[in-house]
Amino acid sequence: MAADAERWFKRILPQGLLGRSLLIIVTPLIVVQLVSTYIFYASHWDTVARRLATGLVGDVGAVIESLRAFPGPENRQRIIGIAASRMDLDIRFEMGGILPNTVMPKPSGIMETALHAALAERLQRPFLIDARSHEREVAVRVQLSDGLLEVFVPRKRLFSSTTYIFVLWMVGTSLLLLGIATIFMRNQVRSVRKLAVAADAFGKGRDVANFKPEGAAEVRQAAQAFNLMRDRIKRQMQQRTEMLAGVSHDLRTPLTRMKLQVAMLGDADGRAELEEDVAEMEQMVEGYLAFVRGEGGEASVPTDLSALVAEVVGRFRREGRDLDLHVEDTLVMPIKPQAMARVIGNLIGNALRYGGHVWVRVGKRPDAAEIVVDDDGPGIPEESREQVFKPFFRMERSRNLATGGVGLGLTIARDIVRGHGGDVLLEDSPLGGLRARIRLPL
Ligand SMILES: Nc1ncnc2c1ncn2[C@@H]1O[C@H](COP(=O)(O)OP(=O)(O)OP(=O)(O)O)[C@@H](O)[C@H]1O
Ligand SMILES: [Mg+2]
Repeated sequence: MAADAERWFKRILPQGLLGRSLLIIVTPLIVVQLVSTYIFYASHWDTVARRLATGLVGDVGAVIESLRAFPGPENRQRIIGIAASRMDLDIRFEMGGILPNTVMPKPSGIMETALHAALAERLQRPFLIDARSHEREVAVRVQLSDGLLEVFVPRKRLFSSTTYIFVLWMVGTSLLLLGIATIFMRNQVRSVRKLAVAADAFGKGRDVANFKPEGAAEVRQAAQAFNLMRDRIKRQMQQRTEMLAGVSHDLRTPLTRMKLQVAMLGDADGRAELEEDVAEMEQMVEGYLAFVRGEGGEASVPTDLSALVAEVVGRFRREGRDLDLHVEDTLVMPIKPQAMARVIGNLIGNALRYGGHVWVRVGKRPDAAEIVVDDDGPGIPEESREQVFKPFFRMERSRNLATGGVGLGLTIARDIVRGHGGDVLLEDSPLGGLRARIRLPL
């Protein structure tokens, strides 16, 4: 139950920084206003209403007293005339009239209540209040000994509108404050959002231009730190690539020399093994060079991933291989197309090499694009699934280079996919062999 309430509360609370900070500013404001309105106006409004009602009842009482003191129709006309001109009271007198015997509805609202109380207290005669029949006036009927007195009071004599105006002002200024706070907070939040977008893009291996730190000091500091970090990572990546390229390249020349020398050895003992070793080393060097080439500053461009997969599959089909392709959605997203084609090629290549039949599927998941490559080969036992990603690790230790590569395929694949912010996962395929799953965050 409590957990339910908590979840509900979390769901209705704003998720974004802007919404939350506005809530933090506005909630206390509203609470303060409500409390002060309640405490102050509950009594203020009451007092004002009571004073106004008492004043009115005093006037009505004076009229009644005068009528009694100066009887006769002529006097009555004069008194009624004075009441109209000096007291703003519209008075009618019905000779011999009787107060209708209806039950007066319970007074509602501050004004009616106050009027009712004042009349009951000061007049001590039967009366009826009708505050609803007329728009601008309140009718008060009082039973006198010789007739019925009807008094029409302008509503504004009983009602102070300043209170309403004050409340309106309070609401108005709060809205103004909210508007100003929104504008200022939005600027603050924008810089945080910019940083978040940049960090997200960089995490997914996309190019991020240098962006100017702005906003509050802390945000600026974070943006500066991000820029520094990004530069450092870029530099390190470049350094690694250059070093790997250099080493691989430099090794080629002595390797070629060794190959020549081995060839000239004639029928010496162990010559075949030496030749194999040299050939293997050559392949490794080529592998490294290929790896490094894949890294070479290719830029992320919006690419149709499904089309890319279809293209790679097509390439294998033209070689006469048998593949099933199932495209669920078209997926355009920023990726490095050549590098990603290589990843897909490596995984399909493995599946074809170690399995027989291959199924490829591309589709969109809630938060990621997914490419799944299934085969019906022997698969990889659970405990080796991390190791196969290591450079030059191969399951079957055959040195027959014709049946396999050097063991860099998965290493390269994972490296590239992680560079896109995603990952390559190995699982059991429902089709018997291995399932390789590429996930790329959207
Ligand atoms: N689909 C698969 N089914 C069974 N085993 C696999 C599969 N894919 C990879 N492996 C195992 O994982 C090892 C590493 O694969 P990886 O692609 O990195 O290297 P490779 O295929 O041997 O060489 P290359 O560098 O030419 O790709 C392979 O040697 C193989 O033993
Ligand atoms: Mg491979």
